Amino acid sequence: MGKTALLKKIKKELEEEYLIAYVDLTQNYTYQIGNLNKNGLMEQFFNSWIIELNEKKLNPIAQKIKKVIKTKKIKLSDIMDVSGYPVPILESETNPKELLDFVIELPQKIYDKNKDKIKGVIFIIDEFQALNDLGKNLKSFLWFFRSYIQNQKNVAYIFSGSVNSNDSIIDKIAGPKGAFGGRVLSVKIEPFSKETVKTYLNKGLTNLKFSNDGFERFYKCTKGIPHYVNTFAKLLTKDTLLTEEMVKNEFINCLPFLADQLKQKWGGLTLREQKIIICLLEKPLKRKEIGDKFNQKSSSLSAPLNKLLNDGFLEIQEDGKYAINEHILKEWLKQEYKYKGVFPYRSE
Ligand SMILES: Nc1ncnc2c1ncn2[C@@H]1O[C@H](COP(=O)(O)OP(=O)(O)OP(=O)(O)O)[C@@H](O)[C@H]1O
Ligand SMILES: [Mg+2]
Repeated sequence: MGKTALLKKIKKELEEEYLIAYVDLTQNYTYQIGNLNKNGLMEQFFNSWIIELNEKKLNPIAQKIKKVIKTKKIKLSDIMDVSGYPVPILESETNPKELLDFVIELPQKIYDKNKDKIKGVIFIIDEFQALNDLGKNLKSFLWFFRSYIQNQKNVAYIFSGSVNSNDSIIDKIAGPKGAFGGRVLSVKIEPFSKETVKTYLNKGLTNLKFSNDGFERFYKCTKGIPHYVNTFAKLLTKDTLLTEEMVKNEFINCLPFLADQLKQKWGGLTLREQKIIICLLEKPLKRKEIGDKFNQKSSSLSAPLNKLLNDGFLEIQEDGKYAINEHILKEWLKQEYKYKGVFPYRSE
């Protein structure tokens, strides 16, 4: 939908007056090896601050950081010097509480030290749904976070990511009983409107020409999602007036490219999860109906269904039925079946 693009734009526009650090939690090393933990998070947070301080050439707080590390008795195997900034290499037995204290207090310290130069400090945490990997530690982590940041002044936090609207992480963060309940502004990033797509394409791709119904079809195929708008527009024939029929045909040809990232995600699913998606291809179904298709109690499908919800493959409609969330995935699967006679199941 363009969240990361938007955040990067915000960062760029505010960078003059604010110090803004950005982390993508899916790039966290401990996340990538399937063991997301607090220490791993703190190292990533800390490094992102160092990068920004460095970039902005703000008052070196190196000495101060060194002192804090000493007094907090954080165990280091080494301190690497990155252009005058100490980047601590932590020892595995570092007391997590001390490390947390240190890193979470850092933004406030940075501000206090530099208030003559910046208006505030902003911390952007992208792909926050990765925090779900903390499992039973998620809630305590969020509340710990809150206990620190609620007293911070001139420090703002932005959480961004893709979650299903019924993912419990939203409640844990912003719900009435959530860690930051009542203190969070939620912003939903909507797809581009028809008008926006029109203006956007007119500006960027002047040789792309649609008839009226051709454009309507283009919008329907992309649903205004920036990634699909870009990809599909680039692949379409230029300098030809594209009618509805032509767009429709091109859409089918372009599906493998449009579904590029989805194909990778699809390949990462278990056979069982893939089969659940396929059984919803025709129409949305109630949980019990899905169970019936597999000759199983619907309760035994909880785990895969929840995973598919959290990964954004499925959503629960207002009538309680499960539906496929991604129209491009749906179309791609249908086409695969049409041309190959089988669905692209993983072999197990
Ligand atoms: N405002 C925009 N104008 C033009 N293109 C955009 C815009 N926003 C996003 N895009 C396009 O959409 C693509 C995906 O955007 P982005 O990575 O920001 O999405 P995202 O919501 O962060 O996705 P994810 O959920 O995978 O993290 C970008 O590579 C870019 O091509
Ligand atoms: Mg993103």
